[in-house]
This record gives sequence, C-alpha cells and structure tokens, in this order.
Amino acid sequence: MAATRQPDNSDRQFYQPAEEFFPANSHLALTFDDITLATLYSEILPRDTQLDTTLAENLRLNIPVISSDMDTVTESRMAIALALNGGLGLIHYNMPERQQLSEVSRVKNHVHGLIQEPIKVAPDQFIGDVLALIEQKKFGFSTFPVVDRKGKLVGLLSGHVVKPRYAKKKVSEALTPRAQVHTIKKKDLGKDPIARADKFFTEHIGIHKLLVVDEDDHLQGLITMSDVERITQERNAQFKPARDAHFHLICGAAVSATRNAFGELDRERIRSHVGALVERGADVVAVSTAHGHSKGVGDTVRVLRDAFPKLPIIAGNVTSAAGVEFLAECGANAIKVGQGPGSICTTRNVAGVGIPQMTALYVCLRAAAKKKVSILADGGITKSGDIVKALTLSQAVICGGIFAGCNEAPGEIVEISGKFYKQYRGMGSLAAMKAGSAARYGHLPNPAQKVAPEGIEALKEACGSVDRVLAQLIGGIQSGMGYLGAANLSQLREKARYIRVSPAGMREAAPHDVVELKTGN
Ligand code: XMP
Repeated sequence: MAATRQPDNSDRQFYQPAEEFFPANSHLALTFDDITLATLYSEILPRDTQLDTTLAENLRLNIPVISSDMDTVTESRMAIALALNGGLGLIHYNMPERQQLSEVSRVKNHVHGLIQEPIKVAPDQFIGDVLALIEQKKFGFSTFPVVDRKGKLVGLLSGHVVKPRYAKKKVSEALTPRAQVHTIKKKDLGKDPIARADKFFTEHIGIHKLLVVDEDDHLQGLITMSDVERITQERNAQFKPARDAHFHLICGAAVSATRNAFGELDRERIRSHVGALVERGADVVAVSTAHGHSKGVGDTVRVLRDAFPKLPIIAGNVTSAAGVEFLAECGANAIKVGQGPGSICTTRNVAGVGIPQMTALYVCLRAAAKKKVSILADGGITKSGDIVKALTLSQAVICGGIFAGCNEAPGEIVEISGKFYKQYRGMGSLAAMKAGSAARYGHLPNPAQKVAPEGIEALKEACGSVDRVLAQLIGGIQSGMGYLGAANLSQLREKARYIRVSPAGMREAAPHDVVELKTGN
C-alpha cells in the first residue's frame, strides 16, 4: 500500500510534473543542467528496463538513440554500428547524391561479421611492401587475401610468412595457393551467416579465416573466427539490432530543401533522389535544416509525403509548438527539436536565436502529442544524464559530439602531443558549408565570405568504438529509469518530476573536493 500511495504534499510542492514545472518556469529557458529529476519509489531494476521506442508507424528502434546527419559523424560505418546496437544512423547529405545512395546500400547490405572490403594484397608485391603497409596503417593483423587486378582470388598470404626474413620474396612465392584456401559462396551464407561461419570454424580445426567469393571467384569479403565468437557472445545482449522486415539493418538518410539555379525548390530532384534512396532500402528520410518552420522545408515535406505516403519522414529543426504543428501538418512523422544547443553550434551567438533544450522540448512535446507525431531531442547532449532528462520529453535523442570521436565516425585519428583526436565540425561551419551543406542554413552553395558561419570546426578526443560508448550511455539511461521506477520510456515520460538546480547544486553534482585519479567515463 505504502508503495503506491500518492506523494505527500512536500514532494508534490517541490518536485513537479512537467505540466506544472515548465509553465511555472515559463519566464526562463532551461536546459539539461538547469534541472534535476526526483527519484521515485521503484520496483524496477535498471537491467530490466525496456528502451524500445516508436518514431512512426513503421519506424521502431530498440534503443532511443540516433546519430546526427553530420559529415564528421554519420556515414555507413556509423549507421551500421548504431543499427547493430538497436538505434539509427542518419547518413548526412554533404556528399554527391550517388555517394549517399551507396552509403545507404552499404548499411542495407551489411552482413554482420562479414568484412566487406578486406585489405588485400597483389601477387607481385614484396613481403617487405606488406610489412611496410602493416607498419604504416598500424594493422593489428598480418594475414591478407591475395587478388589479381580484377579482384579474383589468387590465394591467401598467411601471417606466418609475413616476416622480415622474407622481405625480398614476392607475395606470389609465399602465398597459400587458391586451391588450398577455404572459401564459401556469398549466396551460400544464407539467412544467418554467423551461424554458418560458426559451423564452418568448428568443422575446420585450426582455420581462423573464411573467404567469401561470388560465382566467378571474385573476393566478396572475409569472416574471421574471432569476430564470429564475439558476435555469438553479443547475441545474448539485451538490445537487439534494429532491423527491417527483411532482416536488414535499418538506415536513415538526410536530405535538404534543394533549390535550382533560380532559387526555387527543386521538387523533381528531391522526389527522384528520395525515390532512389527508398529503392536502396532507406527506412526513413530526414529533411534536415537549421530552420524547419519555413516554407521551403514545409514544401519539401509535402512533396515527399505526396510521393511516398508510407515513408517515415523526420523534419526539423524547430523549437516552437507552431513549428511542430506546421511540420506535422505538412506530413512529417517525427520532428527534430533543437536550435543552437549543439556542441559545435554558434547559432545563438551568431543569429541571437534558439531556445535551451528542456524548455524547447516541453513546448514542442505538447504540440506533438496533439498532432500525434514524435519528438527527437537534437543536440547538446554530453552525458547519459542529459539523455534521461531529454527522454522525459521526447521519443529519442540525436547525438553528434558524443559519437564524433568514435572509430566508426568518418575521418582519420590524428595525434597531437601524445593524445588522439578526430575532427568534428558543425554543418554550418564555413568548411562544411563549402563542402555542400549551405542549403541547410538557407545559403547558396559556395557561400561567399560574407555568409556568417553558424558552427565551428573542432576536435574530439578519440574514444574507441560505438559499442563501448553506447554501453555507457545505455547503462546510464537504465539507471535513471530505475531511480524513477520506470519500466519503459512511456513510464519515464509519465513519471518524471522536475526541480531547478542552483549553480552550487550543479557543482555538487560533479565530483568535487577530491583529487580524481581516473574519470568514471
Ligand atoms: P551535439 O551537441 O550532439 O549536437 O554535438 C549535434 C547537433 O547539432 C546540430 N548542428 C548544428 N547546429 N550549427 C548549429 O547551430 C552547426 O554548424 C551545426 N551542425 C550541426 C545538429 O542538429 C546536430 O544533430
């Protein structure tokens, strides 16, 4: 009985539900660190919480996390990693349309465990060249498929012979010839390639690599025993990969409100490019701009909704109820909320506009509930606690900076004074706009100097794999839900109780008055 009793008056007075707290604070725009969530009676263990979320009738994720459509965050590798963890990647559009189609195809054709483009060597290379390649690229492996100029399999160069003593020998002299190399035809991998490969490795004692070929013996990929073992273990993971009805990983692609040379919306081009994306299997498109409550974005969403009645459409960005209603009426299913919160954004400084994220989310969520669309909290997330707070007012979060330092983000790792970094830049930075994203900010391509950038170029410390980063984030979200007694995300939205935090309270929230030996994250 005591457990289900209504909170007594003092709880009620201090820790308020969203519909009381935000209107009571309507004179002030609040973001994540301005508030904290009150704990509630719980019978829920963090590990038992469910994180699945529905963004549209036919777009369901197993975790409520999406990677930003930014050219230093999401291409196929990132989208694959997100989908394997149950989330979604939005492939950016700062690339030729054909390339974006290929990126989507890579995600949709991804076979888990199959290295689709393994590093190959040629028969006429020297072992010394291979050793130099390993050193230069810092490869942690030394066995390579050998292919001829047309990509046909010639043999396998085993790590046992990739030694300095053989440096002057040619690969062709040292390789294991084709006839002795174990292969499988791609079509024979079947519906469950991992189970097929697992069986193969059990039956072939001592063989650790299985090469995949097509009908004409062209190399199509490589499966390693260590990957198969890791994946088999991961299959027991709580959050399953996000897949479509054909068991392919889900994938999203961003598009802009493209204009023709006369400055008019290029309806035909938008329609045909999205048609091609859908043909490649894209599960959702995001009409992604800095100002979604605008005619160009609305017209683009309408064009797409008319042409593709069942396609889930994300659109944004907005920070007002009117903006949400407008995009919902144009046909969007999920609305991106966030103007200026991003870690590389300067919109609020440059243009003087934008709303801190928690207030923006509350205002937008109310309109979204009326229109039966979902809300995506886009930008400003730096830690799992921010995600928990965002999810009290949205169906999923979109993160850029958190993933930009991951191995799967585009770009090379650079070393500066013994530390490793990856580039991360705003899509409104001058460099990104020159590379194509100007339309997102309402500018013409090749912006002249007088265009004011709304983002910066930066570095993120390299942080390992998406799996590792997501494991931390998911753990944090589940802890938050456990504290609130929320078994799933809709209970989290219902149960959340908020209170403002003072600057001293904010300092109290971080480690203090100690000498930190090792950070918790
Ligand atoms: P985080 O905080 O995750 O934010 O790094 C990523 C989000 O920021 C938005 N974005 C920008 N906003 N200027 C802006 O004002 C920019 O140059 C810019 N680039 C990205 C975008 O919504 C992204 O998901």
